[in-house]
Amino acid sequence: MAQVHVMDHPLIVHKLSLMRDKSTGPKEFREAVEEISTLLCYEATRDLPLKEVEIETPIARTKASFISGKKLAIVCILRAGLGMVDGVLDLIPNAKIGHIGLYRDPDTLQPVEYYCKLPTDISSRDVIIVDPMLATGGSAIAAIQFLKNYGVQNIKLISILAVPESLQAIQEEHPDVEVYCAAIDEKLNSKGYIVPGVGDAGDRLFGTK
Ligand code: URA
Repeated sequence: MAQVHVMDHPLIVHKLSLMRDKSTGPKEFREAVEEISTLLCYEATRDLPLKEVEIETPIARTKASFISGKKLAIVCILRAGLGMVDGVLDLIPNAKIGHIGLYRDPDTLQPVEYYCKLPTDISSRDVIIVDPMLATGGSAIAAIQFLKNYGVQNIKLISILAVPESLQAIQEEHPDVEVYCAAIDEKLNSKGYIVPGVGDAGDRLFGTK
């Protein structure tokens, strides 16, 4: 079973509370999303492999460790995932960035890809998917499958809010994918919004409502 890491660090809890407050405007909402994404990325990259190399400090020769292993790509699920990209790039500035756009077919209710642009060498990279709201988990599940079809072997998912049913669905479909989130909320309402949640994350990020 994949692990779910709920990062209830006080800084994250505080910034998430700002996101929840409906009086928080787009500027502050964007800042909170970006900062939480950085903090979640810090934890999600805890197991990056290190390689020891001999270097010279101004004082002496010594062994120092640098990140090694596969290169990383960030894959952003449109549209709200865009708000998380800069926060992740703050820590891994050389990561390449892919974008996947999905919509739900009204008849089949299945996610359908409407946009996809990935780094050409995606199959040889480890991938961090960013998607702030795991409501049903359908988009994240489809994006993970999509990347696996391209040959990506190691995928992590950074989100801000989830609900038990989305985490269960992701774990059932992709037990190898570790999920990092700031909180697990209570449930979805009849319109598919997370309760208590933050409302529509895309609209709040981009001021479109
Ligand atoms: N997407 C959002 O932006 N918010 C929700 O609560 C659920 C899905």
